[in-house]
Amino acid sequence: MTRLSGSSKSSLPSFRTADPVTRRRFLAAAGGSAAGLAFALRPTARAHADGRIRADPFTIGVASGDPRPDGVLIWTRLAPQPLAVDAGLSPKSSYQVRWEVATDERFRTVVARGSATASPEESYSLHVDVTGLRPGRDYWYRFRCRNHLSPVGRTRTAPAPDSAPALRFAFASCMNYRAGYFHTMRDAAEQDLDVMFFLGDYLYEYPIEQLPVGRRIAADLPAEVVPMLATLDQYRLRYALYKLDPDLQNAHRMMPWVLTWDDHEFVNDYETDARDDLDRRAAAYRAYWENMPLRRPQRPRGSDARLYRRIDWGRTAQFDVLDTRQYRDPETAVSPAPDEGERRDPDRTVLGAEQERWLADSFGRRPVRWNFVAQQILMARLNTAADDQPTVFSPGTWDGYQASQQRMFDLVSTNLRRQQVRNFCSLGGDVHCSYVSDLMADTLDPESELIGVDITSPSISSAQDFDPVANEKRQVRRRMNASLRWADLHCGYDICDVTAERIRFDIRVVDKVSRDDSPVSTGASFTVEDGVPGYVDDHR
Ligand SMILES: [Fe+2]
Repeated sequence: MTRLSGSSKSSLPSFRTADPVTRRRFLAAAGGSAAGLAFALRPTARAHADGRIRADPFTIGVASGDPRPDGVLIWTRLAPQPLAVDAGLSPKSSYQVRWEVATDERFRTVVARGSATASPEESYSLHVDVTGLRPGRDYWYRFRCRNHLSPVGRTRTAPAPDSAPALRFAFASCMNYRAGYFHTMRDAAEQDLDVMFFLGDYLYEYPIEQLPVGRRIAADLPAEVVPMLATLDQYRLRYALYKLDPDLQNAHRMMPWVLTWDDHEFVNDYETDARDDLDRRAAAYRAYWENMPLRRPQRPRGSDARLYRRIDWGRTAQFDVLDTRQYRDPETAVSPAPDEGERRDPDRTVLGAEQERWLADSFGRRPVRWNFVAQQILMARLNTAADDQPTVFSPGTWDGYQASQQRMFDLVSTNLRRQQVRNFCSLGGDVHCSYVSDLMADTLDPESELIGVDITSPSISSAQDFDPVANEKRQVRRRMNASLRWADLHCGYDICDVTAERIRFDIRVVDKVSRDDSPVSTGASFTVEDGVPGYVDDHR
């Protein structure tokens, strides 16, 4: 039932039954508010010296991730004082934590349970790989430490390999705490989604300070929470600060997440390890794993961590989750880059040779309706020049690594031709702008055949409040790029409804992330039909 040893179903009584909760009430309970966040950020109670915990250790919530047909990873981290360096726990003590998984939110039918150890070496985090579950089902899970019970999380297993159910998922990127509230996460928590893909910049390393227009920052944050991140303790504390946000907690609590990172989980615009501070990078990677619902194979070894992996969703979809950040060659020095020279060097790579080989082997391996890659950056070719100016490209997207980009498109074209791939879609983030593009077979020929679609999620908060003047200026990109269907600077995220016949993308947007009560609505919708590369023309 579980890989954990030293526990069995018979030796562990079920937790005391929680209050009856209906499914509807469970979903409704996802609605929270960050408005009162300034409340109790100050630590108030400490763990007892003998390892007892007086205060609630489940302050930063629960999460689940990387669903499989027979299981899911469940996560929590003990933190009675989430913004204290030692989380309010004894640095010499480990803590036994019991967990259970049920088919109902009242935990009447518990189907898996066990215990695990939260140790100071892993910042008291728990990463429990629950197996033995049934495919395509909702499950509820919770943890217990001493007499403290965690919030209840809802999760879902992936469907059976030979089934093809409809799929409803979200994808998002770029959560800048000081720039605004995460009410789009509140919206996501209320959408009854199968899974959330988070595509990088879960947090930013910048100092937490009050911006003229942004989130209201508590005046009494502990000193170690505030500065530019550099040490393991500081990275850990930043995750705690984020996870105290009730909207983000709820979004984790309501569905499994599949995560990959971009640069800001470590430092802005980093590349291969040639020029990095490897100790700082190791600290950033370690804190990331400790705080995310990721399995052991994703645990970093020093400054390396293997995050690229595959998520199967029956015969409906395959997601190749990529890491375009860790192995990329240094960006070209010129920004924006002209359409020539270094950008086209075939030796420069955005994925690194090993990941590129892995992707070539994984992609199209299973007969599915929809092949997605879930990755960080804009994959489509995008001329960023002003009207009538010579063509230029951003060096930090796939365009900055044109040979890599072309190899990716060749991989898609070859598999389409061999009918090993039926439909291709790249999901991205990073640019703090919603871009919707058709993908062409040849990066140098805008008239070449269509091979799929690319869509970047808006930022959760990094683009700050919507500016209609800046947005109007951004429309130059549509005039300069025939394949670009949409360019929009709202904050938000994307929902993707997948059936056998089509995909429908709904871009969920919010006007003011500096206000916790700004409503979230659908800004635009786009459709892709099975077997027809590119977006359907009539998108509105
Ligand atoms: Fe970002």
